[in-house]
Amino acid sequence: MSGTAQIGVTGLAVMGRNLARNFARNGFTVAVHNRTAAKTRALVEEFGGEGSFVPAESAEEFVAALERPRRLVIMVKAGEATDAVIQEFAPLLEKGDVIIDGGNAHFADTRRRERELRERGIHFVGTGISGGEEGALHGPSIMPGGSAESYASLGPLLERIAAKAPDGAPTVAHIGPDGAGHFVKMVHNGIEYADMQLIAEAYDLLRSVAGYSPARIAETFREWNRGRLGSYLIDITAEVLAHTDAATGRPFVDIVADRAEQKGTGRWTVQIALDLGVPVSGIAEAVFARSVSGHTALREASRGLPGPSPRPLGEEAAARFAARVEQALYASKIVSYTQGFHQIAAGSEEYGWNVDLGSVAAIWRAGCIIRADFLDRIREAYDSRPGLPSLLSDKRFAEEIGAAQDDWREVVATAAREGVPTPGFSASLAYYDALRAERLPAALTQGQRDFFGAHTYRRTDRPGAFHTLWGGDR
Ligand code: NAP
Ligand code: ATR
Repeated sequence: MSGTAQIGVTGLAVMGRNLARNFARNGFTVAVHNRTAAKTRALVEEFGGEGSFVPAESAEEFVAALERPRRLVIMVKAGEATDAVIQEFAPLLEKGDVIIDGGNAHFADTRRRERELRERGIHFVGTGISGGEEGALHGPSIMPGGSAESYASLGPLLERIAAKAPDGAPTVAHIGPDGAGHFVKMVHNGIEYADMQLIAEAYDLLRSVAGYSPARIAETFREWNRGRLGSYLIDITAEVLAHTDAATGRPFVDIVADRAEQKGTGRWTVQIALDLGVPVSGIAEAVFARSVSGHTALREASRGLPGPSPRPLGEEAAARFAARVEQALYASKIVSYTQGFHQIAAGSEEYGWNVDLGSVAAIWRAGCIIRADFLDRIREAYDSRPGLPSLLSDKRFAEEIGAAQDDWREVVATAAREGVPTPGFSASLAYYDALRAERLPAALTQGQRDFFGAHTYRRTDRPGAFHTLWGGDR
């Protein structure tokens, strides 16, 4: 006998609970289940009035509550818990049923789970869900992988609960088979790390070099938010900088310990980029910047090392410098997205996913942490030229970065001269210069490799592999 719930959610911590409420608020009957049944009861007691919930205390009850083919969302702690839940539910399911994993799973785990469940006739949809708990409730950006058949059954539900982009389009699209959705979510988080790091560097420069107060920097960010940098992250940064600590009356940012933590998806992005051979140097610097900040003992031991002390600029020079920092931030942001989209293209190629990069940009326009007007421009770039080799080869981005480059260089040079660390700005500029260079010193690297290891080299003037018989005593 089939149940009446169109969708089920198991795992009712902040994310699962809000996602279940979102489905219910959108008119779906939602079966809800949690390992600890008290959470299921609490959800229905507190929010039962928002829509139609079917609480289930056991896995059997949960599965029986679902209409066929069954669609059940797992929102548990990513890793072993996901496998445990799959093992508990899979034996109760039938061919054609769909399991959706909305946790932050590693895409390789998703590929494995999808393969195992496919053999049993069950669709497994590894789904990136971005936007935190607020997004889960009011509309996240959703990145489902899995089979096209599963998306046909699931898509209409996800489109209802997803955020809506400024043009009204829901921020969900079928990304591609097996682990494609979780891969794209992973890169989303890598880009998120880079966006945050670049904003932090802009803040540091405005504070140390321009001599602005946090409140003044908040004003500057508000102004930038009205321009081409307009985004959720710039918006909330202004809020954070304008905030005063109630206990001390000091700027909030000054009472927060300067050690950034991480859950791991940014790190995965860089690890996988290394495996794929994709240069994501800006994103990598953002992950390393968090590591550096967390090495308290190393920082303590290095505190006395010599270096310049920035001298704050006068008012007019500070305003000119701030305008340059905006250019540097924008140019570096273009590089982060260029690198992130390159990684998605490389993953798609490696695993045969056929990911549509324009639609990835489109579903990041709302609901997720990196939502920004900027993503519309990326969507247009890929939609108008689907085979675009790199975002930097899009005419508009090339022109914009070209117009920003003088200021970008000036900012990186100033940061180096004044001793302000800007790993994101600097790595992004180096990437830009490496890509546009006529010749790279890699030629010398090849010569060295041939010298010490007979690794051979290729020549510019004729085909084939060459080795030089290096003479002299060694
Ligand atoms: P969480 O703290 O990651 O997970 C807690 C949930 O997992 C609880 O429902 C817990 O059940 C369940 N659970 C843990 N081990 C289990 C096991 N062995 N068997 C069955 N259930 C188990 O919760 P969350 O923050 O809501 O995140 C859920 C998922 O969404 C995670 O994968 C997370 O990475 C992802 N995510 C989170 C965010 C965010 O902003 N928080 C954003 C996007 C995605 P009990 O109540 O019984 O302990
Ligand atoms: P989103 O796609 O919305 O960014 P996310 O990937 O889960 O969702 O991460 C959003 C933010 O919540 C990130 O800052 C993340 O931490 P990291 O910066 O260390 O990656 C944080 N976050 C993710 N899962 C979390 C969890 N289970 N508990 C607390 N914070 C979490």
